[in-house]
Amino acid sequence: MLSKKDSLYANPIEQIAAFRFDDAVVRVFPDMIGRSVPGYATIIHAIGLLADYYTPANGICYDLGCSLGAASLSMQAQITAPNCKIIAVDNSPAMIAQFRQHYQKQDDTATIEIHCADIRDIDIQQASVVVVNFTLQFIPVADRLSFLSKIYHGLLPGGILILSEKIHFTDPKQQQLQTDMHHAFKKAQGYSELEISQKRMALENVLVPETVATHQQRLQQAGFASAEVWFAYFNFTSLLALK
Ligand SMILES: C[S@@+](CC[C@H](N)C(=O)[O-])C[C@H]1O[C@@H](n2cnc3c(N)ncnc32)[C@H](O)[C@@H]1O
Repeated sequence: MLSKKDSLYANPIEQIAAFRFDDAVVRVFPDMIGRSVPGYATIIHAIGLLADYYTPANGICYDLGCSLGAASLSMQAQITAPNCKIIAVDNSPAMIAQFRQHYQKQDDTATIEIHCADIRDIDIQQASVVVVNFTLQFIPVADRLSFLSKIYHGLLPGGILILSEKIHFTDPKQQQLQTDMHHAFKKAQGYSELEISQKRMALENVLVPETVATHQQRLQQAGFASAEVWFAYFNFTSLLALK
């Protein structure tokens, strides 16, 4: 999908509004996420590999907080079992409109169903794989356990949840170092100090990161048998939770 260069925070903004997944963000989203999340492309590719490993014939996968469908499309490209379905859900009308506009069903590949809905409200059933790629961090902390419990109950025995998140560290030195390294990553991707600091302000209280330990405890509370980190790059991590 073609993406414009993200320059949303390039000029000084007097009153920085809380970050929203609106039309302006959608227009630059692939460029924004690729230059902001260390390892994003690697995670997207691996989601397809994992989905192929875990999805049997007639299997169902979910991509919750799908944005423009990068994870769905990776699963669709890599799942080899026949007659599979990917249910992609996002509550941003702008994201869903753009995803629908570019989505083309290919013969002999899994079908993608695209829904505009709040992922806290949808039913999850008979899932082999559920992907929550950098989206739980935008759900209010108070709603996270019930959301993960719903995913657990919607997975088939032996199913997996792939949960990717920005991570917080309890040790202040570690937190500072990992934050500095993330900013160094963004600078190396061409973002200026101003862009980095204005975006950080926009995300304050909108993106709420937690520690890996908190995620693992909550996943266990939700019912998962195990939850381990399979990918980490500075303060960005992806976990595999097994039912
Ligand atoms: C960082 S993006 C996810 C990126 C995407 N999963 C990917 O791999 O490219 C977060 C997405 O979650 C969506 N989102 C946030 N809260 C949501 C909710 N309660 N229900 C549905 N979607 C939500 C946003 O609209 C946004 O598109």
